[in-house]
Parts: sequence; C-alpha cells; structure tokens
Amino acid sequence: MRRMVAETRLHPSDLILPAFVREGITEPVPIQAMPGVVQHTRDTLRKAAVEACEAGVAGIMLFGVPEDAKKDALGTAGTDPEGILQVAIRDVRAEVGDDLVVMSDLCLDEYTDHGHCGVLAADGRVDNDATLERYAEMAQVQADAGVHVVGPSGMMDGQIGVVRDALDTIGKEDVSVLAYTAKYSSAFYGPFREAVGSSLRGDRKTYQQDPANARESLRELALDLEEGADMVMVKPAGPYLDILAEVAASVDVPVAAYQISGEYAMVEAAAEKGWIDREAAIAETLLGIRRAGARMILTYWATEAARRLNAAR
Ligand code: PBG
Repeated sequence: MRRMVAETRLHPSDLILPAFVREGITEPVPIQAMPGVVQHTRDTLRKAAVEACEAGVAGIMLFGVPEDAKKDALGTAGTDPEGILQVAIRDVRAEVGDDLVVMSDLCLDEYTDHGHCGVLAADGRVDNDATLERYAEMAQVQADAGVHVVGPSGMMDGQIGVVRDALDTIGKEDVSVLAYTAKYSSAFYGPFREAVGSSLRGDRKTYQQDPANARESLRELALDLEEGADMVMVKPAGPYLDILAEVAASVDVPVAAYQISGEYAMVEAAAEKGWIDREAAIAETLLGIRRAGARMILTYWATEAARRLNAAR
C-alpha cells in the first residue's frame, strides 16, 4: 500500500555521478574524508563511467585535478586543450558516447595555486570580470573536447551569459549550460578541497551566498534564466531543501541539486561508527532531495544507489 500511494520515487535516471580525475597517477588515490570516493586515473575513470552507465545513472560530472606544478595564478591548466579535464572528457565520450550525459565543472579553483574560483585583482580579491574571460575560454575548450553540458560553478556575476555566448560563437549551440544558481558559502565543501587537492587561502564569501539568505537565490535564478541557463542547480542540497523547493516551484527548466562532499562524509562517518543505518540513511537523503523538487541529483552515491534501485524492482 505504501508503495502504491508513494508521492515520490527515485529512479536511476534521476542521478548524476560527480567524479574526480587526477593527472599523472597510475593508481586511484582514496580521498580520506570521503571513504569510498577516489581520485581516478584516466583508466579507472573510464571504468567508473561505464559502471554508472550500466547501472542506469543519467550523467557524470567531471572534475579535473592537475599536477601541483601546473597550478598557477590564472589556472592555465583549465584552458589547456591537453589539460586533464579536457583529456578526461574525450576519454569518457569515447567510452560511453551518448549513453551517459557528460558534464564538466567549469571553474578555476581546481587549477589556481591560490585555490580561488577566479583570478585575483591586485588587492587579493577575486576579479569578477577578468574571471569571466577565463570562463569563456574554459567553456570553449571543454566543448571542443566533446562535453554535453558545462556546469559553471564559480558564482561570478554574468557567468552564464558569457559562457552561453562563448559556446555559440564557436558553433556549440548544442552544448547545454547547467547553472550553479544558488550556491551557498558552505562548511560542507570541506572534503571537496581534499578531493581536488585545493589549498584555498581565505574563503569564498565574496562570491558565494550567505546561508542566511533565501530571496537572494530567486534573484540569482532570474538572472541565470535571463542569461540562458538550460538547467539550474541548488547547492548544497540537504541544508537548503527550502531553497530547492522554492526554486523548483518557480521555474519551468529542469532543477538539479548537488548533495556535496560534506553531506556524503557525514553519513559515511556516522555509519562507520555504527551510529546510523548507512543504506537507509542514503536512501532517505536522496528521497528528501527529490521530494523537495530536484529533477536531477548529483550524488557520490549515484552508482551504488542506482544499483540498489535496480535490484529492488
Ligand atoms: C567549485 C566547486 C566546489 C564544489 C563543486 N564545484 C567547491 C567550492 O565551491 O568550494 C564542491 C562539491 C562538493 O563539495 O562535493 N569548483
């Protein structure tokens, strides 16, 4: 009876797997703060993409981790056609073709030596407009590598419009833009910094949102839609379900939510201590995000959760 009257269902197609690929390694490197998640080699990333695909996961969101020596103030490796993310996009497309939606993080923090999402002005703060020029170039190299969807995650003002224009200029009208619309300055990104080997100095409070604000997200949403976003995202997911519900109720484009590294780490840590039923907790967090209005969920549990959903049918 519960199954019959359930208002919300999860399906493997609701899920997107975020994945890290690191340059210059021959074995995957475990991420301490995210047990079960690794920095992939090019080879193991291809395998992970195939596994996700076979489990029915809808997409994969790729993050590149360059060699330390390649990080610089401008994040040059992020726009190098032979940079790790571009290489990984080509690898994954060659492996899964169009069976999995291939997405890429469009942001500089993985590539800058200071760890910020943009380039810095003389006073050490992120220079919004100079960063937009870098994002335009990133969008083009990622599109040239064959990505289906770019995900600008840096929260610069005007980033969606600039990225859309840059793609259209080189004839990549078909590449979609998933806008990180409401992205809060969150403590829950902690484990991600280890995942991408980032040594962030300072914080992101000059460009990410204040957790105290909700209406601000609707303003961000209006701007992103006006600038040409094809899909919009709320991030983190769990602590911001009210924002997610409000965004989902006010748009007609697909809405995504990102269950981030810290949300993953909390459940894994509590489960490891035997304080929580791991599988039930994972299922409940995902269902809650879906119920709040997310069409798509980015989650590090994507493949595992999809397999469990398949087995339960
Ligand atoms: C920025 C970016 C971040 C995440 C995704 N894209 C880090 C940040 O904004 O600090 C976090 C994802 C996670 O924590 O799982 N490139």
